[in-house]
Amino acid sequence: MKTLKINFFISSFFVFCFLSCNQKKEQKAEQTVNVQPEFFLDLVDLQSKNKLGKDTVVTVSNDPVYHKTKKYHAVNALLLLKNEIDLSKVDIKNTLIVFECIDGYKPEMPLELFLKTNPFLAFKDVDAPKGSNWEKIIKNGNEMNADPFYLVYTTAPTEDQEYKWPYNIIKFRFESKSKNIEALQPKDDETAMKGFVLFQKQCITCHAINGIGGEMGPELNYPKSVTEYWKENELVDYIVDPASFRNKAKMPTLGITKQESQEIVSYLKYMAKNKKT
Ligand code: HEC
Repeated sequence: MKTLKINFFISSFFVFCFLSCNQKKEQKAEQTVNVQPEFFLDLVDLQSKNKLGKDTVVTVSNDPVYHKTKKYHAVNALLLLKNEIDLSKVDIKNTLIVFECIDGYKPEMPLELFLKTNPFLAFKDVDAPKGSNWEKIIKNGNEMNADPFYLVYTTAPTEDQEYKWPYNIIKFRFESKSKNIEALQPKDDETAMKGFVLFQKQCITCHAINGIGGEMGPELNYPKSVTEYWKENELVDYIVDPASFRNKAKMPTLGITKQESQEIVSYLKYMAKNKKT
């Protein structure tokens, strides 16, 4: 909360300066300009302080991780968010909510969508076997559990890829939609642009470019771009099917076509010429 307030103060201050230096309308500025504070919620910290809110039991039909109907002990993630931040101060349409997970996985979704969908933070599976909080999850042949939290929704269509259902989640973070896009968008190259759109959808949750993006997989651009040490045709094939290169590949096969992979590689080549300095 403290960081939030300070950041909020600093951003308000800059917005105020900007407006008063540039415009005559400064009187109205306070009401019309939505400031975008850097905001994050440390869920584990809140739990240790008993500040997550009321426990409840929710039912999720067709749970996308367990592929069946599940019941969880959970807290209401929306109430939690509203307790910690004044959403009327947030530019909701231009904000992404990013879910940070223990292994560096960072899926994100539009905040607007998140607010509409009855999100709950599950902390225990009602059907868990004795001695565990969860029925086990099998991923890449490994047994996992969802500790400390698994984000579920009671009213989201589970087949809709825009909704993210991360487990092992530890933080919520707000990010401005335009920030990533401005930094990573190719401006003058059409094929690279197609690759960029695919990259935003399929890859950025796990991989960073110039330090922006997930950390579950390696950074792909800096200091050396993958396009500088992979043969191009093999890189294209790898992105389509990592398991054909690596035993027990940690990168999933995402179902992208060779053509799409080529577009992504064009984008990666473009970014190799635009490293952060
Ligand atoms: C769920 C997380 C995840 C997603 C999504 C993902 N990757 Fe990966 N990726 C990994 C991990 C983890 C590795 C490390 C290698 C391994 O063990 O498979 C990796 C490795 C790579 C490598 C090899 C890097 C090197 O130098 O060895 C490339 C290239 C790559 N990914 C590109 C992509 C692209 C392009 C996309 C999107 C189409 C993508 N990845 C989506 C997790 C992911």
